[in-house]
Amino acid sequence: MTLLVVGASGFLGGELCRQAVAAGDRVVGTYHSTTPDLPGVRLHRLDVRDRAAVHTLVAQVRPDAVVSTAYVYADWAVTADGAAHVALATVAVGARLVHLSSDAVHAGRPEPYGDDEPPSPVFPYGAAKAAAETAVRAIDPGAVLVRTSLIVGEGSKQIQLCLDALDGRATLFTDEIRCPVDVVDLAAAVLELVPSDHAGPLNVAGPDAVSRAELGLLVARRLTASVGMKTTTSAASGLRRPTEVRLDSSRAAALLRTRLRGVTELLAG
Ligand SMILES: NC(=O)c1ccc[n+]([C@@H]2O[C@H](COP(=O)([O-])OP(=O)(O)OC[C@H]3O[C@@H](n4cnc5c(N)ncnc54)[C@H](OP(=O)(O)O)[C@@H]3O)[C@@H](O)[C@H]2O)c1
Repeated sequence: MTLLVVGASGFLGGELCRQAVAAGDRVVGTYHSTTPDLPGVRLHRLDVRDRAAVHTLVAQVRPDAVVSTAYVYADWAVTADGAAHVALATVAVGARLVHLSSDAVHAGRPEPYGDDEPPSPVFPYGAAKAAAETAVRAIDPGAVLVRTSLIVGEGSKQIQLCLDALDGRATLFTDEIRCPVDVVDLAAAVLELVPSDHAGPLNVAGPDAVSRAELGLLVARRLTASVGMKTTTSAASGLRRPTEVRLDSSRAAALLRTRLRGVTELLAG
């Protein structure tokens, strides 16, 4: 199988490439600003904002499947328009599309969100991810929209934020609840979804709902150091981000062989 990973230079994209190469796939990856070191992957520079360039590259590669991960937190054109361009180019060659979405599409509430709940974004990043979902679904109703949460693991920016908080350089909120997932588990789940016929949104996150502050404490305990960690409430009022977003990933857990480990297990010991 030929797999095209859009955003191969990213945290998840790199892990997707490594696992797909190890599985024997022909892997083509894209980067935008940073050339990644990914043995066995044919790399191309691509700006997903350039609709014609996306079309040309996908037409050249003729992949069997495309995993679309590219985004920039505060850039609508990359996150939303870019995702639409990737979807248009993918349907043009008849390839399978797995699009990476986010729990950020939800407004936040105490009850967990099911897979099929419509987006209710309350901040620009969530709105851009919701717009991307809408575009991708309209262009390719057969695409999977993987809604995931904080991606953790070696080199994760979420773990780096915890380490920064331990040094007093960042603040972790006690009222910002998420369901972290390990990058290795998430990549394996995404690659399992490629040959499946699942269509539409699917929550793929860990089973443990923790606040960013609790995540920081788990990281601190692992390092046996918790002094200096700054925590506070007020995520919603201060930063205009949704507070409690729990993804119910039970459908994915039943569908996939990959076990989605909780963060308590991941960071134990
Ligand atoms: N990280 C999380 O905790 C988290 C949580 C929920 C959902 N997600 C979703 O999961 C996906 C992967 O996240 P991640 O953390 O692995 O992302 P990441 O490490 O920030 O990587 C983003 C990728 O997008 C590429 N990119 C940026 N601008 C681009 C452009 N104009 N054209 C083409 N590519 C461009 C980057 O390329 P360069 O680096 O080469 O510029 C990089 O490969 C995203 O869709 C994100 O919304 C992430």
